Amino acid sequence: MCTVIAVHITHNQFHFILSSCFFITFPLKTYLRSMSPAEAKNRIETLSSEIKQHNYNYYVLAMPSISDFDFDKKLEELVQLEKQFPEFADPDSPTQQVGGFITKEFITVKHKWPMLSLGNTYNEQELLDFDQRIRKAIGDNFEYVCELKFDGLSMSLTYEQGKLVRAVTRGDGVQGDDVTANVRTINTIPKKLHQSDFPQHFEIRGEVFMHLKAFERLNNERVENGETPYANPRNFASGTIKMQDSAEVAKRPLDCFLYFLYTDNIIYKTHWESLQAVKNWGFQVNEHSRLCHTINDVFEFINLWDKKRFGLSYDIDGIVIKVNSYAQQQELGFTAKSPRWAIAYKFKAEQAETELLSVSYQVGRTGAVTPVANLKPVFLAGTTVKRATLHNADEIEKRLKLHTGDWVYVEKGGEIIPKITGVNLDKRKPGAEAIAYITSCPACGTLLERKEGEAAFYCPNDEGCPPQIVGKMQHFIDRKAMNIDGLGDETIETLYQKGFINHISDIYSLKDHSGELKLMDRFGEKSITNMLEGIEKSKEMPFDKVLFGLGIRYVGATVAKKLAVHFKNVDKLAAASFDELITAEEIGERIAISILDYFKDERHKEEIEKLKAHGLQFVTEEKEVSLASETLSGKTFIISGVFAKYSRDELTNIIEQNGGKIVSSISAKLNYLVAGDNMGPAKLEKATKLNIPIITDDDLLAMIG
Ligand code: IVH
Repeated sequence: MCTVIAVHITHNQFHFILSSCFFITFPLKTYLRSMSPAEAKNRIETLSSEIKQHNYNYYVLAMPSISDFDFDKKLEELVQLEKQFPEFADPDSPTQQVGGFITKEFITVKHKWPMLSLGNTYNEQELLDFDQRIRKAIGDNFEYVCELKFDGLSMSLTYEQGKLVRAVTRGDGVQGDDVTANVRTINTIPKKLHQSDFPQHFEIRGEVFMHLKAFERLNNERVENGETPYANPRNFASGTIKMQDSAEVAKRPLDCFLYFLYTDNIIYKTHWESLQAVKNWGFQVNEHSRLCHTINDVFEFINLWDKKRFGLSYDIDGIVIKVNSYAQQQELGFTAKSPRWAIAYKFKAEQAETELLSVSYQVGRTGAVTPVANLKPVFLAGTTVKRATLHNADEIEKRLKLHTGDWVYVEKGGEIIPKITGVNLDKRKPGAEAIAYITSCPACGTLLERKEGEAAFYCPNDEGCPPQIVGKMQHFIDRKAMNIDGLGDETIETLYQKGFINHISDIYSLKDHSGELKLMDRFGEKSITNMLEGIEKSKEMPFDKVLFGLGIRYVGATVAKKLAVHFKNVDKLAAASFDELITAEEIGERIAISILDYFKDERHKEEIEKLKAHGLQFVTEEKEVSLASETLSGKTFIISGVFAKYSRDELTNIIEQNGGKIVSSISAKLNYLVAGDNMGPAKLEKATKLNIPIITDDDLLAMIG
């Protein structure tokens, strides 16, 4: 069945419309008809749990593991099965939800107007059917507004008296997460409106997204830090909006196009007029929207953007077509999940078919093994594709079930490296063997390990596996870490191969080998001098850079900075308990565990001692600052939650500059708890029990005048 249906797969996933069964194919119907009730019951249960998991991956983890098309296909199969075997349909079935999850970390807010989904169509006939349905209901006298379908996450903004008071994610459509503090960091969203003709209370909805350039830059940084890259800009935007620290959100540039206005009383007659009005109030409305009078105008718009979309600086995955008049929208009404007056036409992702030549495996500095597909070169969306990511073993063995010499579909979305979306089973060669993931390290032969809950296999031989050893030293000298002049990745590789360096600390002993280095082919006198000078100079790099350079898993440049500020020196950091670690800003459980693991290892401690002996900085330089005031002298504070105007570090500085002291745990002796949004309920409860004054950041500022 899969060979018949899986011919085109769209790039980002979007969930979902059930009311109109758009792409059910004949083979699926035939297959369903032939099912026994027992088989159907079984299949319904399997599909329900798979879809729930995919929804969770998509909405909560922001890391979907299935394409749009495949997701829709599964959902469609479930809809059909539940229709045919209503006795097995569960009221909790994913077909009965709009989709989405509520995350625990944010306050949940009920939407005043539910945030509905849109019906999807993948071809022209379905769009003609939509047009016919509308004509049947309201006659021929109407217009459409065509808009780009931005591939981000929908956001509902509430304004009162012209001020942004709340920003809420879609969540499950009925209620979502209050992410106001994070949304305030988006420059193009006005916090205060300047025109005066807006209603006193209104809601406006739009799409928060990340531009492709920012996505590439930030994702590259993640890879360099040993973090999992996001699959596409949509996931990056969604992951960002759900961060706990709005100061961190501000560093990841997001943008927003607004596309729908809700007011208590209708003030404009049409959607088009509303768009023009909200633009005048200061909202960013996409410039490419068009008023269309006929369905042919709509097709023209679709065809235009199907070609031009690759020239945009952001991802779109289709076109949204809306009936313009509000009166006609009302007449058409809604199904349980989506308006009848609008539909999304989804583009097919640019796809090509090519032959799989081989699978190779790369070992990174953390020991993580990444499989890569080597492909017969094929032209796709402007470039020649020779390689594609395969992510992990499950992708090869479970999802794609790759065999040697398979013909595969490759697709390019927001990401630079294309992905394999499916296999053309019709072209599978007889006798082709299933590709099995390697069991031992391609570089050093050590048996690979897979940690619980992780998708990747790791080579545990961190002391003896060449790409790990070289990778760690290359990371250490990198521009964002120690930034050593005169020493590059290739030199590190050569020096390792010639036996000069094996550990980071060996870099600082190179000066003792200058005579031997001079005898080597590619080292001139000048380049050796430059390199040794660069190495000496790097001893002045601040603690946070050294800490980042050590390459502790999940400790990227920003986290290293936070740790350096919080713990002030490496000994305190090495001795910190789990609870102490997580009190530091931005340090979650995953990072804390990784830090504990790192310092548990005696070899790491020895290496740090050697680096200390070489004179590297392992203490945060305390700047001699004269206090701004003594107002908070003798007072203790804890800062918790997220703040719109300040990061927690900034508030710490403000308190310390005015003589106050930050402490790490709530006790009866604590003077103040400075509370922001989304503070942990346990902390709040403890502070309340102990009668500790809970103040806002504004109260704090008022205290110091
Ligand atoms: S209108 C009631 N307009 O697509 C309809 N949605 O599948 C409200 N989207 O949840 C949505 N671009 O996240 C609308 N120009 C656009 C859009 C758009 C992207 C997203 C949005 C929505 C989903 C519906």
